[in-house]
Order: sequence, then structure tokens, then C-alpha cells
Amino acid sequence: MDIVNVKVNYNSCLIGMQLDELLVSWEIIGVKEHKVDVIEVKVSQELEFHTLMTKKQFKHSNQCQCKLSVPLTSYATYYVQVMVVHNGEYKNSKVHRIVLPKCDAWIAKMISPVQYDANRIIKQFTIDKAIKHAYLSICGLGLYEAYLNDQFVNEEFLMPGYHSYDTHIQFQTYDVAGRIKQGQNEMSVLLGNGWYKGRLGFDGGFDQLYGDRLSLIFELYVEYIDGTSTIIYSDEDCVCKQSYILDHGIYDGETIDMTRNCETLYPVEAISFDYSLLTPRYSPRITIKKKIKPIKYMVTPKGEHVLDFGQNLTGWIEVNTSSSFKITFGEVLQNNCFYNENYRTATFGFRYISDGKKRWVRPHFTYFGFRYAKIEKMDELHPDDFHACLITSEMEHTGYIETGHELVNQLLSNIKWSQMDNFLDVPTDCPQRDERLGWTGDAQIFSGTALFQMNAIPFFRKYLHDMLCEQELDHGAVPNVIPTPKPKIEHYMDQEHLEKGMQVIKMFQDKNMCPWADAATIIPWNLYLFSGDIGLLEKTYPNMKLWVDQAMQLARESGNEYLIDSGFHFADWLALDGSEGSAIGATDMHFVASMYYYHSTILLSKAAHELGYDEGEAYHKYAMNIKQAIREKYLRDGIVSVDTQTGYILAIHFQLLEEQELQLNIERLVEKLHQNNDHLDTGFVGTPYLNFVLSKHGFIKLAYDLLLNESYPSWLYEVKLGATTIWERWNSILADGSINQEGMNSLNHYAYGAIGEWIYREVCGLNQLEPGFKKALIAPKVDHRLGHCECSYHSVNGLYHIRWEFLEEHQLQMIVDIPFGCEAVFYMPITNEKMELQHGHYSFTTSSI
Ligand code: BGC
Repeated sequence: MDIVNVKVNYNSCLIGMQLDELLVSWEIIGVKEHKVDVIEVKVSQELEFHTLMTKKQFKHSNQCQCKLSVPLTSYATYYVQVMVVHNGEYKNSKVHRIVLPKCDAWIAKMISPVQYDANRIIKQFTIDKAIKHAYLSICGLGLYEAYLNDQFVNEEFLMPGYHSYDTHIQFQTYDVAGRIKQGQNEMSVLLGNGWYKGRLGFDGGFDQLYGDRLSLIFELYVEYIDGTSTIIYSDEDCVCKQSYILDHGIYDGETIDMTRNCETLYPVEAISFDYSLLTPRYSPRITIKKKIKPIKYMVTPKGEHVLDFGQNLTGWIEVNTSSSFKITFGEVLQNNCFYNENYRTATFGFRYISDGKKRWVRPHFTYFGFRYAKIEKMDELHPDDFHACLITSEMEHTGYIETGHELVNQLLSNIKWSQMDNFLDVPTDCPQRDERLGWTGDAQIFSGTALFQMNAIPFFRKYLHDMLCEQELDHGAVPNVIPTPKPKIEHYMDQEHLEKGMQVIKMFQDKNMCPWADAATIIPWNLYLFSGDIGLLEKTYPNMKLWVDQAMQLARESGNEYLIDSGFHFADWLALDGSEGSAIGATDMHFVASMYYYHSTILLSKAAHELGYDEGEAYHKYAMNIKQAIREKYLRDGIVSVDTQTGYILAIHFQLLEEQELQLNIERLVEKLHQNNDHLDTGFVGTPYLNFVLSKHGFIKLAYDLLLNESYPSWLYEVKLGATTIWERWNSILADGSINQEGMNSLNHYAYGAIGEWIYREVCGLNQLEPGFKKALIAPKVDHRLGHCECSYHSVNGLYHIRWEFLEEHQLQMIVDIPFGCEAVFYMPITNEKMELQHGHYSFTTSSI
């Protein structure tokens, strides 16, 4: 018996996170019975657990989670441990340590360099006694990297991350006891433009979105062994210097000049600042997840020196060199030569001017999306001196699938990589061009897949917090992009074309577009399904309610309170059935908007019901009226009048239809697919649901055909053309290998990776019967062409394992593992035999195929 994976609020490391109660979770393994004799969860302020702050005990239980309240005081350190007694055996889990953030008022001042390019702030201080604890609470705007006695404090990057800075500013907390010495110390903080002050947006973008000055606030709390304490903090006693970092920006790369003389000291000044904006972080840490060596060094026909890292990824390159160099980044080669025109204006890269000393070099305040790196101006190029660093928000990987089909395995890898590459504090649409924004539609579409693949619960929690802050600014309206830039025209980078700038401003002001805005209902509901955490649903319920109430208001204003009949909606974005060259699909955008209006209202009513709120009933009734209005407007003789693949998919998937109509509409969908040579032509709306609709209504083979199609348009078409991440367009690269010239063309856009959710739910067959997978429905839909499929998924309640394999004698073998504390309803593929499974290991073989 063992107790593993103890977590608090879904995190395995918690220092300085926003927190109002502790949700402790754990897993018990190596127990045969369905319950254990005793589970005890203990919280203490001492590692030895002599005295307890609080504890909870469960007898004869299969509990895997519980909530505890602790006093919230600055830097309080709590140790959490789970103990289990069973059959006379007694076991303690590893101890889990959490440190609360600073909870009291700031005495520090927000300071800023007086000299505009002096972006290194320094504070010297003396420590004359032995230290017991030292915690640094810090936030630098736009971005910061803190060093104590030349040691990097953050051990994470691009802090304080990207959030809605106009509504709250997240500070970070670091345990720095090991970095301070008795005697003279120096704290030095580098500041960069980042999202706060640097260029962001479209068509040249805007700068100074949130502020026009680099600034810093910190408090270093030091507790001595003798029980006394002191605080060292930012104020006018700090000084600043220039740094080696010259031009830099999220889109604009970075230039480092080590020959620069940075010794002149300048003063700093305190600036006016609303201290109430400061809040502990919601966001997971942003760290280097992998380092990758180049797989190839080539000299292209144009004579360019290019390194191929074999994988499209997000981050930067570290170089071990004494030479100067310039690196530009690209996702794909064209005619065997370097190419990055699809980055639009974000092409500058990383420039280093050496002082002749050999060292590892990296940029600080930018990142890139790339597979290829063109190296210029370097004395000698040794590929061994380079590695690419994948920078991403920390999330454990929870889902793994491996099949007998190599191209499908590559597709699964591509989906995972696109998540790692784009979940960088914000779920971005893409990581390379001058965009990299938290588009709500993309995040909504992909959220189910994302939550299978990784523990993205804290990550989405942060995104929903930003979303709620933005919604609250405008009666619940949901912007297209979260955090929402609110640029001023005077900060437009292309002052010669102000009309273009005004259009971009309008684009950021636009709101309530379906199904982008429906991220406000769909993501909270998905978080609940995956976490089973009613407290989390309660916290995100306002996102849902504000949006649905806003949608009702919009509908009323447009004349029919049960339909959304007006306004522009992205709808089936990038579908292939739209008019030539258009990004807008052929499916009537108001049909799509009304269907999501219905879907969001249903989700809200379900959430209200789970939370025991009376209004659930009223929302349900309202949803039924929406359904009726859509039926009246869009059904002709029981068939949806929106004659596109996506039209039928939505009507079927969102249950608009009566039993007898269902068949007619599925037949129409199948006919349309046949007319299209069994290929999809769907965009952001139809694609995530297409395979569900087919496999759930008897067309398993056709669903697999779509998954396995290798010709355009299909997922494997991309794979066959060498994709290592998911593309934005079905035809981002044409069959001859040339890049689609239509513009807006990223090779790392996770939206169509939403097929991942279908693979988890239908191919592997794993679904929630109860939120959090406390009870699962396991019903794989199998197909010979995959050979076998093996899936493990680490739910919040424990590890599920499902494997099916076609054996030589045309038999199907199934293996299922259900974790402790959980149970499942299992349907044997092919025979459809139903079984109730308790926790344990099962193996079945069908005899008749
Ligand atoms: C983004 C998308 C986004 C879309 C909305 C694009 O520029 O890359 O993924 O959802 O705009 O129109």
C-alpha cells in the first residue's frame, strides 16, 4: 500500500499561490479492497507534526480529496500529510509543504528608473544575524528577472506572466533563504517591456498597452533564528544601471550587447501606483520543460546556416559561445531554404554581441515559436553549442495514448506539443507571429483535449479569473481575447496608417461573438467535469451566468429573446466550405450563435443544478424556449435547413432534434460527407464534434475514416507533410510543400487538435459518469486499422488504464484498470456487454467478431 500524488489545490508545489482554502487530494495504491480502514489528513506548521493546525479523518472510506481551512497569514508554512491505516498496515504519505503569500499591506514602494533605458534596479543590504526564513514578494512590470548575489531567484521565466494588468497585478513569492548570506548582499532586478509595455496586437501593434514605465516592487522578509525579523524593500534607496539587454519585445526578440558599459548609477523614483491591484499569483510557474539538441545542421541552397531541432516548439535557444551571433527563427523550410514570412512582423530574432568571454547565452524578455534557426554573424558554428528550450506553464502530463498506427501516434504527439507550446500563462492561439493572444474561441474548443492531456486545472482557473475580471468591466460581455488589450490610437506603431490602427482597436473592443464568448460557459463546465470540484464550479459560475445573462440581453435587443439573430460571429471559422479566400465558413453564423446560446444556457442550468441554486430551473426553461425557437426557424420537415456539415453536426451534437428527426439528419450529414469523398470541410465549430456525432450514432467506421484519411483535408495530411504540431489551416502547407499564401498561417495552432478529446472519449472510451472520474463510463469504439490502443489517464481520483488490441485470431483483448476509490460502467466493444467494475485490474477477450 502507498499514498502517492498528494496535492494541494491541484498543485504539487505551492509557494505564494492565491489560496483561500486547501483542497488536499491523494491517491491510494496497492490496496485490493474498495475501502480502507482509516484515512487521516493532517496539517501542521511543523515538519514533525507534533502539533496539528487541523486534521480530518475518514473511517472505512475511499475518499481521495478533502477541504481544510487554515489561518491565512503572511508566509505561513504548512505541512500536509495523508496517513492511511488498512488491514493493520500503517502508512504516511510524503510531506507536502506549502507557503502562503504575503497577506498584509505593502510597505514597499513601486519604483521606476529615472533614466529610461536603465533597466537594472539594485539594492544593497546587510544581514548581520543567522537567518531562519527569507521570502521575497516581488513584481516587476512589464517583466522581471530577480537575482540575489548574482544567483537567479525566479528559476522561472517571463514573470509576472501575462494577465489582465488593468484589473489586477500578480506578484510572486520565492523562498530565498539559501541565496542570502550574512554580511553584504545585493539584490539586482532586470526589467523588460513584456506584454505590459511592449508591442502587442495586429498590423504593427501598439505599445504601452498597460503602462509607459518599467517599474518594480519587492519586499524581502527575513526571519532570524533569534525570532526577530526585518523587511528589505523597494524604495528610493535603490539605484539603477543600464543592462546588457538593448532592444527587446515579446514579438521583437532581443539584442544583448556584452560590450556595453553599464556601470553608471542612476536614481530611481517612487511612482504613483494603485497598491490594491497587487494580488498573489494564480498562474502556474513558467519553466523550461525540455532542452532539445539540433538534429541537423545544414547549409541551404542560399548559403544560410540553419539548425533543425526536429520539433516545432516555443521558447528560445541557449548558446555556449564566446562569439557574437544573430539567430532568426522559422517553422518550416521553403525550397530547402530558411523561411519565416508567416511570422508577419515578428521576425527579428535574437542578436548577441560578445565581449569575447565564453558563456551560455539566452534571451530574457522574449520568446519564439520555431523548429529551424538560421545562424548568422558567428565565428564558428558547432551544433553541440546550441540547445532549444521549451518554455511552458508547468502542468503535469496526465494523459498518454499509444496506438498501433504510427501516423496517429504522430498526430497525438503533435496535439500535445501544440498544447505545451501555447499554454504559456495564457492559452495563446499561436506562439510565433505577431499575435500570441488568448483567443477565447481557440481555448474553448481545445479545453476538453487539454484537460485530458495535462493537469491544466490551475492554468484554466487563472484564465477564467482574467476572463471574469474582463467580463465585470462590461456587464458580463465576453471579449474575443483574454487578457483584452485596450490600446490607444496614439500608441499605434504605424502612425501613417491610423485607419488600420482604429480597426485593430475595434477588433479588441468587439465582444460576444459566438462561439468565442461561449468559452465563459464551456471552460468552467469542463473544469468541473475534470476536477469534480464543486468549489471550483462555484468560483467560475459567475463567468457562466454573466455571459448567459448578457446573451439574453443581446437577443432581446435584437428582437427575439430566444434567438441570436444579429451581429458578426466568427462561427465556423476557417471552414473550407466558405467563399473562395474567406476565413468565414458557409454555416449560417446566426444559426451557430443561437445553437451556442442554447448550449451555454443548458450548461448554466446544469451548473446551477449541481450547486443547488434555484435559478437552474428557470434557466432550463429558458433553454427549452431557445430550442423551440431554433427548431421553428431552422427545421424544415425535421431536417436542419443549414445544409452544411457543421449545420447537421451542431443540431445533432447539441440535441436539437427529436428521436425520429435524428436519423434523417445523420443521414444527411453522412450523405454530405460522401459527396465530399468522405472528407470533412468543417472549421472551428464543426471539427471538434464531427467525429463524436458519427461514432455516437452508428457511423464508427466513417469516424475512423476521417481520422485516418491521409489526403487533404485531414489531420493525417498534415502529419504526412511532416507536421510536428497542429496547423491553423487544413491547408497551411499545400501538397507540394509550399506554404499557403493566404496569410494568417501558423503551423502551431492547437484548435484542430480538439480531435484529441474524441480519441480519449471514443477510441479509448474514457468518460466521466461522475465529475472527476470518481465513476467512469468506459466504452471504447474500436477499429482494426489502429491495431491496438493503449491509454492511461491520471484523473484527479487516480490512474485509469485502458488497452484494447486485436489479436491474431481476430479476437479483441481488453485490459482495464480502475483506480482505488473509483468505479466504472464498462461496455465491451463489439459485443456491447455491460459490466459494473469496481477498482481493480480486468482483462477480457471477445470471442465473436
Ligand atoms: C487567431 C485565431 C482566432 C481568430 C479569430 C486569428 O487571428 O489566430 O485562432 O481565434 O483570429 O478570428
